Amino acid sequence: MPTQRNVISSFALLTALLLVAPSQAQTLDFGKDVWPIFEERCIECHGPDEQEEQLRFDDTEWLTEEELTGAGDITESLIYRLIADPEAEADRMPGEGDPLTREQIVLIRLWLEGGGKAEGWVPPELLPGHGRGASEPSAVTVLAEGLTAAPEKALAALIAKGALAMPIAQDNSLLRVDFARAENGVGDGDLALLAPVSDHVTWLNLAGSTVTDAGLSAVAKLPKLTRIHLEHTKIGDAGLAHLSNLEHLEYLNLYDTEVGDDGLEHLKPLTHLRKLYLLDSNCTEEGARALEEAIPGLEVTLLIEFAPVEIEVAPDEEENSDEEDDDN
Ligand code: HEC
Repeated sequence: MPTQRNVISSFALLTALLLVAPSQAQTLDFGKDVWPIFEERCIECHGPDEQEEQLRFDDTEWLTEEELTGAGDITESLIYRLIADPEAEADRMPGEGDPLTREQIVLIRLWLEGGGKAEGWVPPELLPGHGRGASEPSAVTVLAEGLTAAPEKALAALIAKGALAMPIAQDNSLLRVDFARAENGVGDGDLALLAPVSDHVTWLNLAGSTVTDAGLSAVAKLPKLTRIHLEHTKIGDAGLAHLSNLEHLEYLNLYDTEVGDDGLEHLKPLTHLRKLYLLDSNCTEEGARALEEAIPGLEVTLLIEFAPVEIEVAPDEEENSDEEDDDN
């Protein structure tokens, strides 16, 4: 019997990883469990600013290409090989810094084994002003003018609370503060940590937090906010009243919240708002369209738009009929 040494050594690590709770696969949530790893470790080189090897992972169509994911077969996945295979040491990704942690590798592996799909997930469009003409400076460029670096002490306090707190780009002192992975949860009281950096915060992620309508009064004091994630919270109409002065807001995610049409009235002054997600809220199609009319350029997403579904052709009909015309 051939030993298949190479194959085995390449995938020895994979086998070791298998020991970790495969049952997690059922509850794996791409946006919550997997995306943050790509966002933290890959986007700087494969995102809006740089596209090494023409790969741009903030666009899930690219990230979920079969060549990268292996379409459910982990041994065929380029992503997996580059993050986990000891034989791929020289090409290891991320291209800089520490390798991914064991837990991160396991999460990506579970996601890949589940088919490596991101259907129904709303891409974060990392770059505010994404899709504008290249000559027009983005809001974050303008808002950062003359701004010095955020105070270290304030950043350290945010990080101690479990937030990711960092400049949005190497040459931009505006901050991204992301509480989505704060292990002990985040509530109204924690938002006081934002006060010392109120002039710096431009992206804020409070998804899944216990922040309340009243707590959003702290967010009203962040005049440079361009993006805010409030999905999976109990935020309702009263909370949105605190957002109506955030004149630079471009992206607002209210997926799975208590917000209804009345709350949308508070958003009408936000003339720069371009993306609003209202999936699983109490808003109606009518309310959503009325807001779109009030704010030119706004796109409201009310229903989950699934990525194109693979259509399986019944094996006894039409087999291969599509592939044959491809070769010319
Ligand atoms: C510091 C920059 C940097 C980071 C961070 C980074 N990459 Fe890369 N990536 C590169 C460069 C440069 C290349 C071009 C090929 C090479 O040098 O290996 C590349 C190429 C790739 C390729 C294509 C390889 C091929 O053979 O076509 C994939 C897939 C990839 N990276 C995945 C990732 C993943 C997944 C992450 C995060 C875990 C990541 N990269 C993080 C710089 C980076």
